Amino acid sequence: MKFFIDTANLEDIAEAQALGVLDGVTTNPSLMAKEGITGAENILAHYQKICDLVDGDVSAEVISTDFEGMVEEGEKLAALHPQIVVKLPLIADGIKACKYFSDKGIRTNVTLVFSAGQALLAAKAGATYVSPFLGRLDDISTDGLHLIAEIRQIYDNYGFDTQILAASIRHTMHVIDCAKIGSDVMTGPLSSIKGLLKHPLTDIGLAKFLEDYKKGNQ
Ligand code: E4P
Repeated sequence: MKFFIDTANLEDIAEAQALGVLDGVTTNPSLMAKEGITGAENILAHYQKICDLVDGDVSAEVISTDFEGMVEEGEKLAALHPQIVVKLPLIADGIKACKYFSDKGIRTNVTLVFSAGQALLAAKAGATYVSPFLGRLDDISTDGLHLIAEIRQIYDNYGFDTQILAASIRHTMHVIDCAKIGSDVMTGPLSSIKGLLKHPLTDIGLAKFLEDYKKGNQ
């Protein structure tokens, strides 16, 4: 299972990278705005900084909603760095753009996916990654994990290569549940990754080992 961090915050990205378990980064226009990164040139420069920090894939989202605009933006993003994956919204023109990029060998992440049918379309268009937003489904009292399981079954039925990138992860249990289902990737905040470290028996056990070592070496 690949671990992506879902942020444009360079400190969080560096911390996850230093842990040694990071496989990539996902961003979106809201995450960029949260970090105060505005304007096309600044956004491109920020993507470059993220690529310099991590070894893996970096999803960079287009703002255009028409095919021509998405192609123009996506080509510019893909040319920026070999680690860039062009992130496209799941709308008709996004699917057309996904097919266009897939035919050209440019990797894509189809985002804002909320149904199995949408995920099927993304796979048919050759998406590298598909991003079902499980947290946002949970927010409206719908079972986000069920969607991940449905997509897993459909992709396995037909051997689609598209990787399921469980997005909108809110906490550590989401990560574990997605791993059980067989999601290829998860993207979440740093807290969802660091939460995997936590167990009180680990802390108690370590404290005891250190205490006993001290006693024996006095
Ligand atoms: C996916 O790539 C999105 O950036 C993200 O996971 C959305 O998550 P949110 O629902 O926490 O905004």
